[in-house]
Amino acid sequence: MKIVAVRTHLLDHELETAFESAATRFSRRSHVLVEIECDDGTIGWGECLGPAAANAAVVATYAPHLIGKDPRETAKLWAVLYNLLRDQGQRGLTVTALSGIDIALWDIKGKHYDAPVSVLLGGRWREGVRAYATGSFKRDGVDRVSDNATEMAQRRAEGFHACKIKIGFGVEEDLRVIRAVRDAIGSEMRLMIDANHGYTVAEAVRLGKAAAEYDIDWFEEPVLPEQLSAYCEVRSRQPIPVAGGETWYGRWGMWQAMSAGAVDILQPDICGCGGLSEAAKIADMATLNGVRVVPHVWGTGVQIAAALQFIAAMVPDPVRASPVEPIMEFDRTHNPFRQAVLQRPIEAVDGVVSIPEGPGLGIEINRDALQRFKMQTA
Ligand code: NI
Ligand code: CA
Repeated sequence: MKIVAVRTHLLDHELETAFESAATRFSRRSHVLVEIECDDGTIGWGECLGPAAANAAVVATYAPHLIGKDPRETAKLWAVLYNLLRDQGQRGLTVTALSGIDIALWDIKGKHYDAPVSVLLGGRWREGVRAYATGSFKRDGVDRVSDNATEMAQRRAEGFHACKIKIGFGVEEDLRVIRAVRDAIGSEMRLMIDANHGYTVAEAVRLGKAAAEYDIDWFEEPVLPEQLSAYCEVRSRQPIPVAGGETWYGRWGMWQAMSAGAVDILQPDICGCGGLSEAAKIADMATLNGVRVVPHVWGTGVQIAAALQFIAAMVPDPVRASPVEPIMEFDRTHNPFRQAVLQRPIEAVDGVVSIPEGPGLGIEINRDALQRFKMQTA
């Protein structure tokens, strides 16, 4: 079995209403899929986190080193590609591009052996996972406090057990948002906050102390990801558990963060941290450190499928009669191709997402959607 082609598909949609996190303004949704084809006709799909065209350029750089190789040798190919750009890489685009390729190789391997990726990773512990709704970005031209409260009340009505809201726009306004959302969703629904590294240590500590009374499950990306000592300060000086990891890369980046004691909850992105191969290693390291893993998810149905296969194989930790079950991030912001790229959409029903049972990632791609949302390039 040999790889004969590596292709990327750039997808793009201009948003009718732009929205913002503390770090980024979104006026478009743009994502990139990776397609790898083998000599026997088997095709695998992956996705890269981050800028679509830039990822595609790095995938194209890796591609000649994949042609003619056996796609089942996932760990070997991972090392070959990582070594290729180590001197310019180790984090960011070199690893996000590698992630998309690695996921596609696992999809191929699953199809070849007629088994879901979760089985190849070691076994399915669960057939479904509770999703938490991510939304509440700052939208142009609306009052953020009432907008967030209305949106999250709707997520509760849809059956989600938990939701995550965006902060990092200023401590006082953020506290008004948190209070309004807690009032709107009631006391039972779980609530998380995400500052997208928009705060200083002092602001994060002040917000965390004041927000704790609203029963917050985690405080995500309080400060800049490269400031590990700042993470530790936030973790020690305010009571809410600290989460992060979507911008840390590979086992080395995650090891640095965990050995510094930066987080209670680690959030590797399967399409960013190095793919399924690396995410499995990272999850093993998290058990060494007593850190909970909740993958970051911000992509199309391909990423959702990859995260689901990974979550299916997550070993309960700690082992007990009612273990802490993994949960799945479910982006609820506008993205018309998120599910359109799949022949069968993967949606939450009463807040629970079923994990596909088919071989590989368990999905089929809708090529019409790839055409319909194809990025217009000059
Ligand atoms: Ni639209
Ligand atoms: Ca986040």
